[in-house]
Amino acid sequence: MDGVRGLDDLDFQGKRVLVRSDLNAPLNYGGITDDTRIREALPTLRRLLGDGASVVLITHVGRPHGVEPQLSVWPIAQRLAKLLGSTVIVASGTSGPAVKAEAERLLPGQVLLLENIRYEPGETVNDPELASFLASLGDFYVNDAFGAAHRAHASTAGVAALLPSAAGLLLEKEVATIEAMLDNPMRPLVAIVGGSKVSDKIAVLERFLDVADRVLIGGAMVFPLLKASGHSVGGSLCADADADHATAALAKVAAGCHATLELPVDLVLGREFSAETEVQQLDGVDVPDGWMGLDIGPVTAATYAQAARDAGTVFWNGPMGAFELDPFAAGTRTVAEGVAESAGMTVIGGGDSAAAIAQFGLSDEVDWISTGGGAAMELIEGRKLPGVEALR
Ligand code: 3PG
Repeated sequence: MDGVRGLDDLDFQGKRVLVRSDLNAPLNYGGITDDTRIREALPTLRRLLGDGASVVLITHVGRPHGVEPQLSVWPIAQRLAKLLGSTVIVASGTSGPAVKAEAERLLPGQVLLLENIRYEPGETVNDPELASFLASLGDFYVNDAFGAAHRAHASTAGVAALLPSAAGLLLEKEVATIEAMLDNPMRPLVAIVGGSKVSDKIAVLERFLDVADRVLIGGAMVFPLLKASGHSVGGSLCADADADHATAALAKVAAGCHATLELPVDLVLGREFSAETEVQQLDGVDVPDGWMGLDIGPVTAATYAQAARDAGTVFWNGPMGAFELDPFAAGTRTVAEGVAESAGMTVIGGGDSAAAIAQFGLSDEVDWISTGGGAAMELIEGRKLPGVEALR
């Protein structure tokens, strides 16, 4: 990353390093359901500890309103300690003299994890006082929290200006992987974009229409595009707010852009969003009244999977249908298998597609699974990430 220091640029021996990671792992009744983010944070932590530093570690967990005990860092600390093979001390809070003293007692090789930084009202508003307290805990600041790099918060942006700062290994790798995919991909570059709303993905879609060779659409976001192309969508998810975005995307294609935009040619329909509903396959895309499209059909899925296999680079974000419901999982599964079998560079854009590829047991078959859905999307859109910019 131009103008951003890396870990090689600072001498961490004997220093106390404030590290911002995104350890915001999904929790279910206090148990971690996917520890990918914690695992991906390890290389930077191991490197710093190996270099003779002590680490004051910061993360957010969820979006608490004040102190919500069910969003404490405790389960994360336990998993981290297990993966790291050493003790992780949990701080008594997020700020104040007690936390400061806990940081000052750290010895080289030790890790102190602050409580959920979003317990602090100043975190999300990038409060200078909070940033300055955090800066007082370390000699250096390392940001490795790619998943939160699109947030201009006290622990991701504010503190960076107050200490000698560097990017962690994960942050660097995430940015380098996504930028290389956009700027210098092995071609053809195939972008498979799914999910429920065109409005969430419109900027990503437009970027890929400019830089990719094929843009393949799945998920409920196909319906505003089909409707704008004159098809009936029945009871499919198709928010009015998405209509303008769909029309704009089709206008961009009609005016001429680098990529082809490909929509499904068949669908799987249900009466309602339920695993028990009546199901039918539709050879075509005009959804009758009383039915809703809940997956791409087998012909579309096979075409998309083959496009992934033939690609020099594949980017995939967003499921192809309601893959959490068994009758509507086949499209997402077939596409996931195609991505996994691709000989090209394969990048998964985090979020639901990462969950899908994990559900099908294919996570090890792809080259890169981003740990930051929102941050990856903003980077692809061409937006600056505050967490990266603050390191310059
Ligand atoms: C995420 O889960 O996408 C990141 O941890 C960022 O979380 P946020 O959307 O609550 O800022």
